[in-house]
Amino acid sequence: MRKPVIAGNWKMYKLLGEAVETALALKPLVANSTHCDVVIAPVFTALKTVADRLEGSNIKVAAQDCAVQNEFGAQTGEVAPVMIRDAGCSHVIIGHSERRQFFGETNESVNKKTKAALSAGLAVIVCVGESLSERESGNAESVVKSQLFGGLAGLTVSDLERIIIAYEPVWAIGTGKTATPEQAQEMHGFIRRVLAETHGAEAADSMRILYGGSVKPDNIASLMNNEDVDGALVGGASLEAGSFSRIVNYK
Ligand code: 13P
Repeated sequence: MRKPVIAGNWKMYKLLGEAVETALALKPLVANSTHCDVVIAPVFTALKTVADRLEGSNIKVAAQDCAVQNEFGAQTGEVAPVMIRDAGCSHVIIGHSERRQFFGETNESVNKKTKAALSAGLAVIVCVGESLSERESGNAESVVKSQLFGGLAGLTVSDLERIIIAYEPVWAIGTGKTATPEQAQEMHGFIRRVLAETHGAEAADSMRILYGGSVKPDNIASLMNNEDVDGALVGGASLEAGSFSRIVNYK
């Protein structure tokens, strides 16, 4: 009943020409992939062009971050959610661990950005996930729980219809060390229980919870085989149309 989402986060890769080339190569490879929602997230400067070139296709376009507000203003370097929507995007990724680690993203800013993005009409992929030391010290669940509490604070059950959660353990990102299907299922089940506590069983049941961290064509099926894994947020393996389409078409 939950439609899977396979999203590719291109991070800070690809000049415009290559972004368009990859998007156009992907288009026919996933044209019949109606079993899931397909999303790609190029850099800001490529969003509009890529979105235009994908118009009418089943590939949706996401930004990788956004400002905390939609009001225009003196915010040098920021991009408002309403501008992202204006560029042809339907989604935005918020709270990626790289933004948390290197750019001062906090649960509070994730919450503000999420609210601004929702009010601009975007769907939001909210990222959570613990670091290696947090996992090793037995705090993985409490870290993820506070990211969920903070990030989703004040959101209504109907807001949650346009939220997707991505669980990305920091130790699995770009390391080739994927969480085992059991580890993923365990945390995804926990996330769903937390959401049931905060927003009720129905909202929790309909939430798509994606796994991210070294997802590849050869491990996607075993991850997707778990009850609470509803898709993937893919970094490195999404940069190439062939490998990303094999992940999309994991069945
Ligand atoms: P990798 O798939 O390269 O590990 O990246 C995961 C990620 O950070 C997606 O947002």
